[in-house]
Amino acid sequence: MIDHCGREIDYLRISITDRCNLRCIYCMPEAGVCTMAHEEVLSYEEIARVTRLMAGLGIRHIRITGGEPLARMGCLDLIGKIHAVDGIETISMTTNGLMLRGRMEQAKAMGLTALNISLDTADPQTYRTMTRGGDVCAVLETIDQALACGLKVKINAVPVRGYNDEQLTDLAAMARTRPISVRFIELMPMGCGANLEPVSTGEVEKKIEAAFGPLLPDDSLHGYGPARYVRPEGFMGSIGFISPMSHEFCGACNRVRLTADGYLKLCLNHTAGLDLRAMMRGGADDATIEAAIRDSIEHKPVRHGFLEDIGDREVRRMNEIGG
Ligand code: GTP
Ligand code: 5AD
Ligand code: SF4
Repeated sequence: MIDHCGREIDYLRISITDRCNLRCIYCMPEAGVCTMAHEEVLSYEEIARVTRLMAGLGIRHIRITGGEPLARMGCLDLIGKIHAVDGIETISMTTNGLMLRGRMEQAKAMGLTALNISLDTADPQTYRTMTRGGDVCAVLETIDQALACGLKVKINAVPVRGYNDEQLTDLAAMARTRPISVRFIELMPMGCGANLEPVSTGEVEKKIEAAFGPLLPDDSLHGYGPARYVRPEGFMGSIGFISPMSHEFCGACNRVRLTADGYLKLCLNHTAGLDLRAMMRGGADDATIEAAIRDSIEHKPVRHGFLEDIGDREVRRMNEIGG
């Protein structure tokens, strides 16, 4: 599908639950949140139907997100269902990694091609603070298990001033001896993230260059997202930067999102979209839904507008959107 700006939309991020086993400081409040009721959430059959219709319209890459996707029972079976849809070329997942230990082979057998693991620091105490209780050793084990079974692995780290900003080179060093990408993401001012101090990727890049020497551009294909990759000399893996705030990438946007309650979201920071759950449960046929999706994507917002006064700013939290 091509939108009104000429952008080709071939990537769908599917959030399958808003629940999570952690409470990361930039994502969820400590006290937790009211979660969606079971009947509000799309069934796996409904998600498979949307995937089939979207594949027919040109979606090729699926990312499963949450909350924490593995917090929903049967998540790996859903991967199998999506894998069976004609036209889908890759299925990846963004996860905190804690619930995947020991299930890696099964995930791969179901059709998972790549894993993005959220890990903001390699320091046990800081990890516990930033996630409000997580055990970093368990995440490190997951990473090594994923590599052992041949999955592509990327680390997602969000630098937050006063929390992990002095530990970023230690995290980057994980890519020295492992074939992984360690990616630094600019904190976006959404939900709980709006109350924390971001660190620009420019600042992070300077720190990494000072620690490891010149960073050579790495243009090999790492995924289908907005990251830019570099590689210090002697590194097996690479370092990535995702810079929505300092270097907006909306002009090259290739994606839309499906929330757990079945809303087709056109842009991370806008409420614009289409209530697919209402259409499906109201008995709409495939052709009607397809036409509505086509029309909706045609009107995808031009850019996020985080720093502007936009009329339809998103109010959902990151755990309800999936990043
Ligand atoms: P690949 O590069 O294909 O592996 O995927 P990805 O980086 O797009 O997915 P991931 O879920 O790992 O997201 C990494 C970070 O990028 C998260 O902080 C997301 O919130 C952010 N991100 C992903 N897609 C978008 C987007 O469309 N717009 C903005 N502003 N941020 C995004
Ligand atoms: N800004 C940037 N990235 C965020 N994530 C969650 N909230 C934010 C935010 N406010 C990241 C998580 C996860 C991915 C899905 O989104 O760290 O890796
Ligand atoms: Fe696309 Fe919106 Fe993300 Fe920009 S913020 S890259 S337009 S989804």
